Amino acid sequence: MGYTTRKTPGDTSWFVHDRFGMFIHWGTYAMAARHEWVKSRECIPEDHYNLYAKYFDPDLYDAKEWAKKAKAAGMKYAVMTTKHHEGFCMFDSAYTDYKCTNTPAGRDLIREYVDAFRAEGLKVGFYYSLIDWHHPEFPIDRIHPRRNDEDAYAQSKDRNMKIYAEYMRNQVRELLTNYGKIDILWFDFSYSKDDPNDKPWMKGKGKDDWEAEELIALARSLQPGIIIDNRTEIEQDLWTPEQYQPLEWVRDKNGERVVWEACQTFSGSWGYYRDESTWKSPEMLIRMLVNTVSIGGNLLMNVGPTARGYLDYRAEAALDVYANWMKYNSRSIYGCTMADEEFKAPADCRFTQSEDGKRLYLLIFAYPFAHIQLRGLAGKVEYAQFLHDASEVKFTEGKVNHFSEGTTVAEDLLVLEIPPVKPNTVVPVIELFLK
Ligand code: GLC
Repeated sequence: MGYTTRKTPGDTSWFVHDRFGMFIHWGTYAMAARHEWVKSRECIPEDHYNLYAKYFDPDLYDAKEWAKKAKAAGMKYAVMTTKHHEGFCMFDSAYTDYKCTNTPAGRDLIREYVDAFRAEGLKVGFYYSLIDWHHPEFPIDRIHPRRNDEDAYAQSKDRNMKIYAEYMRNQVRELLTNYGKIDILWFDFSYSKDDPNDKPWMKGKGKDDWEAEELIALARSLQPGIIIDNRTEIEQDLWTPEQYQPLEWVRDKNGERVVWEACQTFSGSWGYYRDESTWKSPEMLIRMLVNTVSIGGNLLMNVGPTARGYLDYRAEAALDVYANWMKYNSRSIYGCTMADEEFKAPADCRFTQSEDGKRLYLLIFAYPFAHIQLRGLAGKVEYAQFLHDASEVKFTEGKVNHFSEGTTVAEDLLVLEIPPVKPNTVVPVIELFLK
């Protein structure tokens, strides 16, 4: 039982067990409330964008409340933005004045996040943007908010990326020194390939610009077991497919299975976006988690808190969907992975399997009438039950009841007999105890 994955420099043993985390995108872009890229998308002038920091006052921020919501939703770890592409720091950095302690918030918001989530027993991760549209030495490029300024080239031509790379090292040192044990460091993102939108003097940015080898070595020297993603362009512990559903276990360029985590949003935005309405249904939310674990991955599900500091009603409703389902069905997620390749899930269902191989979980996306036929499981299952209420699910082998005698039925067939009324849970789960 079990699949080997490419060896990781960090400690991913807890990670591949816990499976489910909360992504938190929070910064002064929540004031604009039009996506975390709003500064770039709208090319907002500095003096206007600085108003967001001037008036940023998350008076309703209660990290303990967030942590309780995450825990109830079944999330075992969290990753919060310490600095996003806008460059605003949600922690008390000694290397910039552009930070939350210099706003009406007046306190270290990351400190409160770390303390609250750790107190609830969740692992704690930091997202840190490699991109910085505020830093005076970050060269203007095709995604920079100043890219269309008439004097963009004049603004950018003398900027020194090496000074910025040192700034990042200094901040990563602060983050991995001042806040206790940090379990994940989530860098974002590289774009080094040439692009038709580049003006002649512009270029993308990648591992050499970030001085990524030095940055990663520093992180590992401070927190040896830390999990680091692959978005510096240097492969580390974690592959990070985003906003799409992989159809099979993610592999590296050599074809080796890797530790991977899909990151997704409840709606169409990472940061709070007041007027964005593409919020996912309860079925989609649960199926995304199930689909991901059924092919050996983790799901990092994102919330974008408001600038007042609370999770809005839509985010809370989505978290409640997870809480209601995970309360009864989390045994099919934690400590589970892709089922042995001999087990093929029937139509509209997924399998997950416990790491010890003893329990197989059938997760039912479209609830069928009367029977679920499982090939290859005859003789292999000792007992079956609905996971949500531990009620027995009876089964026969080698035949389907109701006058199926005489029809050709596969010898390896196991037929689950299910009630005509779908149990009151978004995705019913049947727990199969293997012999
Ligand atoms: C993309 C988005 C960025 C977001 C990240 C999360 O890189 O540009 O805003 O933080 O995805 O994975």
